Amino acid sequence: MKAQNVTVIGLQWGDEGKGKIVDAVARTCRYVVRYCGGANAGHTVNVGSQRYAMHLIPCGILYPGVHNVVGNGVVFDPTVAWEEVEALRGRGVKVGPENLHVSSAANVVMPWHKLADRLSEVALGKGKIGTTARGIGPCYADKAARSTAVRVGDLLDGDGLREKVAAIAARKNAVLSALYEAEPVDAEVVWREYAEYGRRFAPMVANTPALLRRALAAGEKICFEGGQGSMLDIDHGTFPYVTSSAVTACGVPHGAGVPPSAVGRVVGVVKAYTSRVGAGPFPTEQDNAIGDHIRDRGKEYGTTTGRPRRCGWLDAVALRYAADLSGVDEIALVLLDVLSGFQTVRICTDYKTDGKSVDEFDPTAAALRRVESVYEELPGWSEEIVSATDYGELPATARAYVDRVEFLTGRPVGIISVGPEREQTIFHNTQLEGLA
Ligand code: GDP
Ligand code: IMO
Ligand code: MG
Repeated sequence: MKAQNVTVIGLQWGDEGKGKIVDAVARTCRYVVRYCGGANAGHTVNVGSQRYAMHLIPCGILYPGVHNVVGNGVVFDPTVAWEEVEALRGRGVKVGPENLHVSSAANVVMPWHKLADRLSEVALGKGKIGTTARGIGPCYADKAARSTAVRVGDLLDGDGLREKVAAIAARKNAVLSALYEAEPVDAEVVWREYAEYGRRFAPMVANTPALLRRALAAGEKICFEGGQGSMLDIDHGTFPYVTSSAVTACGVPHGAGVPPSAVGRVVGVVKAYTSRVGAGPFPTEQDNAIGDHIRDRGKEYGTTTGRPRRCGWLDAVALRYAADLSGVDEIALVLLDVLSGFQTVRICTDYKTDGKSVDEFDPTAAALRRVESVYEELPGWSEEIVSATDYGELPATARAYVDRVEFLTGRPVGIISVGPEREQTIFHNTQLEGLA
């Protein structure tokens, strides 16, 4: 029988623990594929005493024999990617053309993208988006503009790249100096640096959509690794406080170059509470001692930027929306251990605007800012649960919390995570092949 593919996505505002879940799934796969975002992602995988923070390299890289693909939908920053490759090699992880494939059609994050990202945020002042400053938005903007885009394949194009960089740099310098009085970027220096990255990555550059379609035809199992979280999706998130790519399971076919049928079983990763970095509405935010307590226990500081994350209660209204959007089959409920110690815990079950229940979820920032969260309160649990290996070992109140998440989202909770380590994972009702 043909193996069923798996798509792992975040259902909140990112940092849900996708890295840990992809790592669990990757063990059973031949391919792990990033299809959206770029180095704005920070995916953590813990293996024994080793902690790996991945930004561009898919989380399957730690398993020998697994092919890792940076898909066409990713914006690829070769400076970050090369640093990651070297750091992994320095820790004894093999990385090369045999296990890393970078799409020739992925767009390249150029120095002017990072510059524009930073300067635009400063200029926006209080109205800033709170980006990761990785040049993500400006790079996707150039992808859409086409004439100012650089693709990974272009990095291998010698004199062609030199001409392209010269032409684009002239336009970028004109704009950035007019808008922000920025120092001009030296096109020759950029060309040399990026041509060198082209040489380094050349053996790994591939027509990855074709590679993946061949893998599908051969019945190889693929895991699609989502970046960010559904509420940060460019179309379906809390616009304009979103990232610039299609991050839900709907983004997989486009960002990887595979048919929609390749998406397979969709796993929605959900934190047992909610966190968000950057600006934008967050209806269940607890900007108080509760939020501080969650941040401390959950070590909620950005993997990519180190910024303290905003924390709050679980938002089942937003979760239901995100789960419906991607047709989530099962939920992986992670960081449940962080909620130990609360006398009572809360879940937002409804939004109200002007005293009336909101029938239809509107994710835009303008609409979400107006809603008031309606909570239900559940008894908490005082016990630490980090050593639980079985659902039955969880306190009854923690199990009731899990049941409530299932009920409110209408999705089974297949996996429960009670700590960052591989072993701290309870395979509850999962239908994922080879995991339980
Ligand atoms: P991602 O971007 O979705 O991969 O998530 P991040 O790696 O940015 O953030 C998740 C953080 O939670 C990382 O530091 C993980 O090591 C950690 N983590 C994952 N699962 C658990 C868990 O069940 N409990 C605790 N306490 N930490 C976890
Ligand atoms: P992972 O994959 C959390 C947020 C930023 C900002 C907004 C736009 O680790 O879950 P961008 O740099 O993308 O233009 O920033 O999106 N953001 C993330 N937040 N986790 C991420 O990735 C994120 N990637 C982007 O904080 O609010
Ligand atoms: Mg992260």
